Amino acid sequence: MGGGEITEEVSERKETNLNAKKKIFVAGGTGDTGKRVVEQLLSKGFSVKAGVRHLEKARTLLPNHNPSLQIVQADVTEGSAKLAEAIGDDSDAVICATGFRPGWDLTAPWKVDNFGTVNLVEACRKLGVNRFIHISSILVNGAAMGQLFNPAYIFLNVLGLTLVAKLHAERHIRKSGINYTIIRPGGLRNDPPTGNVVMEPEDTLYEGSISRDQVAEVAVEALDHPESSFKVVEIVSRTDAPNRSYKDLFGSIKQN
Ligand SMILES: NC(=O)c1ccc[n+]([C@@H]2O[C@H](COP(=O)([O-])OP(=O)(O)OC[C@H]3O[C@@H](n4cnc5c(N)ncnc54)[C@H](OP(=O)(O)O)[C@@H]3O)[C@@H](O)[C@H]2O)c1
Repeated sequence: MGGGEITEEVSERKETNLNAKKKIFVAGGTGDTGKRVVEQLLSKGFSVKAGVRHLEKARTLLPNHNPSLQIVQADVTEGSAKLAEAIGDDSDAVICATGFRPGWDLTAPWKVDNFGTVNLVEACRKLGVNRFIHISSILVNGAAMGQLFNPAYIFLNVLGLTLVAKLHAERHIRKSGINYTIIRPGGLRNDPPTGNVVMEPEDTLYEGSISRDQVAEVAVEALDHPESSFKVVEIVSRTDAPNRSYKDLFGSIKQN
């Protein structure tokens, strides 16, 4: 489907048993953040279905011979029906770590970061998967928060309206009826964490950065913390920030 209106009600709501280890579908499982999400889920005892565009690439990047990891082909631009097949009837939640890959196609952000995410949400609605954790970005709503001339806001939107595409996708998630956590990180770093996670409400952070390890951790921890439900959280890390529990961090953000 092409990112339009919500077409049908969530067909079935799955009960949440926080103590049982579940199967989690990770879209964008070969990405710099996605692969960390996969690794952290596995190390916490979850079963993982990694949705990837290229199976061969995934086999070289993701842990080998782990019986808890399944790798499936899933291009988010190919529509919700195909994605529903990939997610299957055995996934309990979806973590979306996709992002367009820069190239000549200036519509790629719209196709991947907006329509692709909408397709994932619609696939979840078809299947009755009622937990969606989405990695977005700070500044998606930059224009409304007085950051129209923030260089990062300008740069990312010049690259094919990336932040606007992400904002549209977020709106679709928020009105889907699915239990969501939208995580908006600051600039992503590959190096290990150097500070503690700072978590703030939507449309408050306009600068800062964070290790991808911590972004993956926040996404995985959201699964185990009901305090994260129906929330948009913005995250960066700071060396002078206190070390707070995830219950406390998620609990401090108001529900939408
Ligand atoms: N870079 C930053 O500083 C920054 C800051 C804030 C937020 N973010 C956002 O955080 C998220 C993760 O960023 P990242 O840098 O870790 O990501 P990344 O390394 O660029 O990975 C992007 C992932 O999306 C996948 N993907 C691209 N097009 C797809 C499609 N049509 N269907 C399915 N999967 C597709 C890629 O697959 P392949 O591996 O096959 O290419 C890859 O797995 C992104 O949404 C990004 O925009 C980034």
